[in-house]
Amino acid sequence: MPEFVRVCRLSEIPEGGLKGVKARGKEICVANIDGDAYAVGDVCPHLRGRLHDGRLDGTVIECKNHGARFDVTDGGICTWVTHPTWYKLLMDASFPGFLKRGVRRYPTRVEADDVYVEV
Ligand code: FES
Repeated sequence: MPEFVRVCRLSEIPEGGLKGVKARGKEICVANIDGDAYAVGDVCPHLRGRLHDGRLDGTVIECKNHGARFDVTDGGICTWVTHPTWYKLLMDASFPGFLKRGVRRYPTRVEADDVYVEV
């Protein structure tokens, strides 16, 4: 049964920043966007890069490894592999669309400065 678990303080994450946390055995990436917390699975579905090591642009996380992009508000995939160019072309040609998947989104709650994620 999922329940809300405290994972960090919001003030630990700079606005527009990301933090990797663990809760009940799950690796989770928490984003601070305009003072709200959003959480998605931390493991990139491409080749298991850690999304919290990536870059946040608005509500979109870009994996630092090959540039796949995911929306933290719903976990949806925005762009699959983007770099290097030769690798993107190879992935576009050889990776069926149904294997290109997003990441799991976790509901969040912020109480005072504490961030809770439902896992
Ligand atoms: S591991 Fe994330 S894009 Fe390749």
